[in-house]
Amino acid sequence: MGKVILIGMGGVGSVVAHKSARLPDIFEEITLASRRAQSCEKVRRLIGGNDIDVAQVDADNVDDLVSLIEKKQPDLVVNTALPYQDLTIMEACLRTGVNYLDTANYEHPERPGFEYKEQWAYHGRFKERGIMALLGSGFDPGVTNVFIAHMNKNHFDEMKYIDILDANGGDHGLPFATNFNLEINLREITQEGKYYEDGKWKTTPPLSVHDSFDFPGVGKREKYLLYHEEMESLVKHFPEIKRIRFWMTFGESYLKHLEVLQNVGMTRIDEVEVDGVKIAPLKVLQAVMPNPADLGSRTKGKTCIGCIVDGIRDGEEKRRYIYNICDHEEAYRDVGSQAISYTTGVPAMIGAKMMLEGKWAGKGVFNMEQFDPDPFMADLNAYGLPWQEQVL
Ligand SMILES: NC(=O)c1ccc[n+]([C@@H]2O[C@H](COP(=O)([O-])OP(=O)(O)OC[C@H]3O[C@@H](n4cnc5c(N)ncnc54)[C@H](OP(=O)(O)O)[C@@H]3O)[C@@H](O)[C@H]2O)c1
Repeated sequence: MGKVILIGMGGVGSVVAHKSARLPDIFEEITLASRRAQSCEKVRRLIGGNDIDVAQVDADNVDDLVSLIEKKQPDLVVNTALPYQDLTIMEACLRTGVNYLDTANYEHPERPGFEYKEQWAYHGRFKERGIMALLGSGFDPGVTNVFIAHMNKNHFDEMKYIDILDANGGDHGLPFATNFNLEINLREITQEGKYYEDGKWKTTPPLSVHDSFDFPGVGKREKYLLYHEEMESLVKHFPEIKRIRFWMTFGESYLKHLEVLQNVGMTRIDEVEVDGVKIAPLKVLQAVMPNPADLGSRTKGKTCIGCIVDGIRDGEEKRRYIYNICDHEEAYRDVGSQAISYTTGVPAMIGAKMMLEGKWAGKGVFNMEQFDPDPFMADLNAYGLPWQEQVL
C-alpha cells in the first residue's frame, strides 16, 4: 500500500519497525533511518528482515533529510527521533511533498516546555502542498486523544471534565531509570504542573499536587499532576471541555533520586564548562544512565493508561473510564521491548496504517482527535493494545 521511512531507531522506533514489518501488504517498503547506522542495523537484526533498508541520517539537518527522502521516495515519514527534530523533519517533508507523522510535540533544545504553536504553524503550507501531518500518534498523546474522540462520538452529548491517568506499575529492579528517553522524560516532569479550567490555564509547582488512585491491573498508586501536550489540542478541538488534567504515577525511589539529581544540578539543560568542554548536565546524566530501550528483558508488571470523562448523555450526568492495560513481559515477548516503548510504538504504527490505508486523510496538520476514532480503536484491539471501558 505504501513506502515508509522510519526515523529514529531507539526504543519506540524499534517497536514501530517490528509491528510495521509484520504487515507487508500495508508497509510495502520500509527504510530504517537513524543518527547512527548501527541503531538501524540492530533493529533490522532483531526483526530478521533482510528486505528492510537501512540509512544513516542526521535529522537535525534538512538537506540531509531531503536527500534521503528523494532517494527513497516514500509515501510517509514516521518520526520516532526526539522532539527536537520535529520541525526539521516537517520542513523536509514539505520540501519533498511527503506525509509526516510523529509521537511527541516539538521542543526547543535550549528551552524547557512545549506547545503546538510551531507545528500548527505548518498547517497552511502542508495544506497548500497537498500533504498531511499527523501529530502525537503515541499513547499519551495519541491513544488518549483517540479515547476522548471515542467518548465524544459514542458516549457523550457534552464532555465537561476530563482526567487523563497514566500509571506505570513496572519494575526493572534498578534504583533509578526512565522508561523512555531520559532527557525528554526529565524535562517533562520537572517543569511546572499545568491544567485547564474554565477557559484558563492554571499552574502549580512541579509535582506538588497529588493523590492516590486504584489503577486496574496495577493497584493503588500515588499520581501527580503534570502538564501534558494532548490537553492543548483537546481543549482546542473540544471547546466545551470545562476542565482537563493529566496525572502520572511515580514511585518513592524515583522521586527521591529525582530530588537529589535536581538539588545537585544534574537535571539542568543549560551548558556548564568542564575542562574546556561545554555540556548540559542532563546530557551527562543521560550518558551514564541505562538506555531505556535495553530495559525490556528486566521489566515486570503492567501499565494502565486511560481517561475518565464526566459529562452529559441524554440529559443525564454520566461518568466513564476507558483504559488499556499493557504487560511489560508480554510486550517484551512480542517485540523485545518494555511496555512504554510498546504503548508508544504500536499507536505510531496504527497511525501510519490509517494514513497509508486512507482511513485518516486530509491536507494540513492534524491532531489525532480530529479523525474518526472507530478504525483506530479497532486496530488497538487487533495489534496488541486492547482497551476496556467502565461506567463509574
Ligand atoms: N506519545 C507518547 O506516548 C510517547 C511516549 C514515550 C516517548 N515518546 C516519544 O518517542 C520518541 C522516541 O523516544 P524513545 O524513548 O524511543 O527515545 P530513544 O530511545 O532515545 O530514541 C531516540 C532515537 O532518535 C534518534 N535520534 C536522535 N537524534 C537524532 C538525529 N539528529 N538524527 C537522527 N536520529 C536521531 C536516536 O538515534 P541513534 O540511536 O541512531 O543515536 C535514537 O535512536 C521521543 O520523541 C519521545 O518523546 C512519546
